[in-house]
Parts: sequence; C-alpha cells; structure tokens
Amino acid sequence: MAKRDGFNLYENKSNLKWIVLVISLVIGGGSIFYTNFLVEKLKDRERATIRIYAKTLEYTLSENVTIQQDINFLSEEIIYQNTSIPMIIMDSLGVIYGSKNIELDSTWTQARKNNKLRSMVASMKREYAPIRIAPIDQSTGKPYLVQYLYYKNSDLLTQLTYYPYVQLSVIAIFGFIAYMAFNYSRVAEQNRVWVGMAKETAHQLGTPISSLMAWIEILKADAGVTDKTILTELDKDVHKLGLITERFSNIGSVPKLSNEDIMQEVERVVAYLRPRISRKVEMKVRGMHEHIYAQINVALFEWVIENVCKNAVDAMGGEGKLEINVLEGSDWRVFVDISDTGKGINPSRIKQVFNPGFTTKQRGWGLGLALAKRIIENYHNGKIYVKSTTLDKGTTFRIVLNRLPESQVLS
Ligand SMILES: Nc1ncnc2c1ncn2[C@@H]1O[C@H](COP(=O)(O)OP(=O)(O)O)[C@@H](O)[C@H]1O
Ligand SMILES: [Mg+2]
Repeated sequence: MAKRDGFNLYENKSNLKWIVLVISLVIGGGSIFYTNFLVEKLKDRERATIRIYAKTLEYTLSENVTIQQDINFLSEEIIYQNTSIPMIIMDSLGVIYGSKNIELDSTWTQARKNNKLRSMVASMKREYAPIRIAPIDQSTGKPYLVQYLYYKNSDLLTQLTYYPYVQLSVIAIFGFIAYMAFNYSRVAEQNRVWVGMAKETAHQLGTPISSLMAWIEILKADAGVTDKTILTELDKDVHKLGLITERFSNIGSVPKLSNEDIMQEVERVVAYLRPRISRKVEMKVRGMHEHIYAQINVALFEWVIENVCKNAVDAMGGEGKLEINVLEGSDWRVFVDISDTGKGINPSRIKQVFNPGFTTKQRGWGLGLALAKRIIENYHNGKIYVKSTTLDKGTTFRIVLNRLPESQVLS
C-alpha cells in the first residue's frame, strides 16, 4: 500500500528483525559446526595417542628385562605424556591392572576403587571399543597376559563439545537483557517526547487564546459591530481552541478522571462531527441504557472518540454507516464499540495500526491511533483494540473503560 513518503518504518523494523534472526542463526550454527569440526579433529588425535600408548605398552611388556635403557626411557615418556585421556587397563576376567587420569578418592579401599573402575569400564565400552594389548612372551613367542585398554574422551574434549551451547546461551541472555534495557530507555524517551511536546503546545496556545477572548469581548461591547453572528462563530472557534489546549495540557500531565456519562460524551462528539463530515455518512449512537457511567477524563476521551470516528469516516470514503455502541460489561467495565462499513484493515497490519507513524493515507500522520492508545491505556488504564475487521466490509474498534462499582458512585 502506498505511503506518503514511500518509507514504512514498521515494515523495515520487522524486516530488520528477520535479518537479525537469520544472522544470529548463521553465527550460532556456524559456531556449533566449527566446534564440532575441532572436536572431531581432537578426537582423532586422542585416539591416535591412545593407540600409540597401547602399542608402546605392549612392546615394553614384550621385551626382556635386559632391554636397553633408552628404549625403556622412550616408552615411559610416551606413557607419561598422556595426562588427559582417562583410561583403564583390565583383562577379560575383570582384573584391573591400572588406571590413568581418573580421580579416585584416596581414602577408599582398593576393592571399592576397583568397583568404581569396573563401572566406568562399562560406560567407556559404549563410547569406544577397547584396544587389545597382547605382549609376546619372548621365550615361547606367544602372547601372554592379554589385557584391554578402555578409554573415553578427555575432559577437555567433553567441555569443548558443550562449549558452543554455553557460549550461545550466554550471548542470548546478554542480548535479551540488552534488548530489554534498550527498549525500556526507548519507551522512557518516547514518553518524554510526548509529554514535552504536549506541554509545550498547550503553553504556546494559551497566550494567543486568552488574548483572542479579550478581543471578542471588546468587539461584543462595540456598538459599531452590527453583525453579531460573526462573533458567535468566533466564540465557538475560540472555545474549540480552548478545548484543544486542554487536551494537550492534559496529556502533558497526570489527568484527573471523573465519573461521566459516556452516552452523553459520545453524543457530544457525534454532534460536533456531524456538520463537519459528508452527509452520506449515517451516524448512530446506541446504548444498553440511557446513561452509562465510566471513569474518564472528558477532554482526552473526546479526543479518542474523535480520532477513531474520523478514521472510520476516512475508511468509508465519505459514504456508509458509522455506529457507536456503548455496552456495560459485567466486570465493572464499559465497552465503546465503534463500527464502520469501510474498507477494513489488512490482517497483517492490524498490529501495526497503533504504531506511531503508521498510516496508509496520502496525508496521514499515523498519530491518531497511537495517541488514542496512549490516552486509553496510560491515562485510563483501559484498552483499545481492533475487535473485528473484514476487508471491504468494515471494522470495529473497541474501547474498554473502567467504571466504579455502584456503591462507590457519588450522585
Ligand atoms: N476504521 C478503520 N478502517 C480501516 N483502516 C483503519 C481504520 N482506522 C485506522 N485504520 C488504519 O490505521 C492507520 C493509522 O490510523 P491513524 O493512527 O489514525 O493515522 P492516520 O489516520 O493519520 O493514517 C490508517 O492509516 C488506516 O490504514
Ligand atoms: Mg487518523
């Protein structure tokens, strides 16, 4: 849909969300993939180490005791180099010959230690097939003392497999906190802008309006002015200007709520709008009862109804039916449903219509509904939402207000 300046901030924002999501997935997936690659390499290396270790052990055991010292030295170097891969040497009968890089409580009895080692063997077997060590008896030329070397990944390797997940969770948590903090400060900033602009506008309008009022009084007293109808019209317009100032000053401060007849307020807005909109728009106000009361700030509430009704008229292109229904909810709520027979809202845009700056109109500012939402939610503790909408059939906006329990109503 066309937009005034061809740039829709909110569409771009949701695109940005997708871009950020895709990039994070690529980074996350990439880091997991790369770590897995490293893990596989390290695994290969550990397996090679353990194989050399087993071979060396087998070789050493095969030699006669009279073997040269330096070969012994070499094999011992290899044997002691493994300081990280946990391993257990056991024969087929379950006799444990030794273990390495496995922490055992030194206060335990040997039997208890062996039990623990045997249970570890069971889990190691599931990870890797053991390596057979079969030293050759030099005198007979046959293997004797066949043992099996059981092993598993080093702690380092295990930690490395979990590392990307830990890293990604930490980054995700940090990102979430940063996002919340950013969002919070953005909302606080928006509030300051709304309140500041409103106060400034009310302040600036104040002076010329009081002076206009004074001028009107002077003209009224002037016998030279014969056509007093002009003065009556001027009076009305200045009064309206006064109302506008009141709206701005209310939104720039904590507005006072009072118990008001919603039917009457709605009728008043409709009466004000009636001569200002196309005669082909039929306007109707209906209520469950003749009087329905709720807690509102009159100046601000009128502003909301005006905005929503103007949108309805716009949506109907100046021809159709605008109906306002005032209902009493059972839970001390009052519903004001504003329905039109206009062009409806595209389902994908329902969430966006309340965003400041969102408009589909050539000359729209996209502030009407943002303001209405702010007034209803922040100042009236109520709700405003699209109750239903059908393309080319019409839309219903619902405003939810609070009313006092009967016992508290002072009349
Ligand atoms: N009754 C409605 N029917 C159809 N679309 C609507 C209606 N009310 C609001 N909208 C949509 O929401 C947008 C935002 O409305 P609003 O915040 O009042 O800004 P503006 O009226 O300046 O466009 C409108 O441009 C329109 O697309
Ligand atoms: Mg509008």
